Amino acid sequence: MKIISGIKDMQIEAKKQMKLGHSIAFVPTMGFLHEGHISLVEAARKQNHIVVMSVFVNPLQFGPNEDFDRYPRDIKRDEELAREAGVDILFYPHVSEMYPDDRTTTLTVNRRVDTLCGESRPGHFDGVATVVLKLFQIVLPDRAYFGLKDAQQVAVITGLVEDFNVPVEIVPCPIIRESDGLAKSSRNVYLTPSERSDASELSNSLRAAKEAVNNGESTAHEIKKLVESKLQETVGTIDYVEVLSYPELKQIETIDEDIIVAVAVQFSAARLIDNVIITRSGIPIGV
Ligand code: PAF
Repeated sequence: MKIISGIKDMQIEAKKQMKLGHSIAFVPTMGFLHEGHISLVEAARKQNHIVVMSVFVNPLQFGPNEDFDRYPRDIKRDEELAREAGVDILFYPHVSEMYPDDRTTTLTVNRRVDTLCGESRPGHFDGVATVVLKLFQIVLPDRAYFGLKDAQQVAVITGLVEDFNVPVEIVPCPIIRESDGLAKSSRNVYLTPSERSDASELSNSLRAAKEAVNNGESTAHEIKKLVESKLQETVGTIDYVEVLSYPELKQIETIDEDIIVAVAVQFSAARLIDNVIITRSGIPIGV
């Protein structure tokens, strides 16, 4: 596995791979890798010649009172896990090169961000869109792999590549879970033991929502009430419970299209998110 930090060096390497006729897969991450990230690498390896992973904790997507400084980092461990998973190139840029002081442009996302994490974390998706577009220009991938735990992020990035005609295929991948259903996340390490056992209620409540829809419940409000009642039993504080159209993320009253049921719960030192996408066809989204 090659490790590259310089932006120009990464572009030169990407162009070299393109000349060899190799397709490039890209797995962007903020590091502190877990099985969720590894599953993206596995999907990427199946469809491409070369897998590039980036590790970059992007300051632009954290609000002033969020956990940028505390975000877990361990590049040596990430290197080992990436190598074992079969990553070919680990791109690990410096903040100063990604964001020099004299920047002229950043992006503002206008659609699909007035709800869920876009509403709770103002500016978050502007930071995500800016860094993802920059990374696409540096890594020059054919396909990029994103986990559906951040389903709003997938919806926003899909809109981004459409708006800017970016020739990258966005590949959404399923959520990877612990044995009790908790979605894998780098932030799970912040949970206290009692919070950790309560945290499985996020996925339990979403499973109950899916069952209710499959059994014929078609009122969004009823589904929301069901999920809220389950989450109220945890020690966490509910940030949001929403039942929305997907990927447009519009409020709905009746469930008659593809929907997302999404939750965010604040625990003492970790804010956890989870969701389920329920399609009309019953076919799950993601490779
Ligand atoms: O999902 C993430 O880890 C980040 O939002 C991403 C896509 C790597 C951009 O910083």
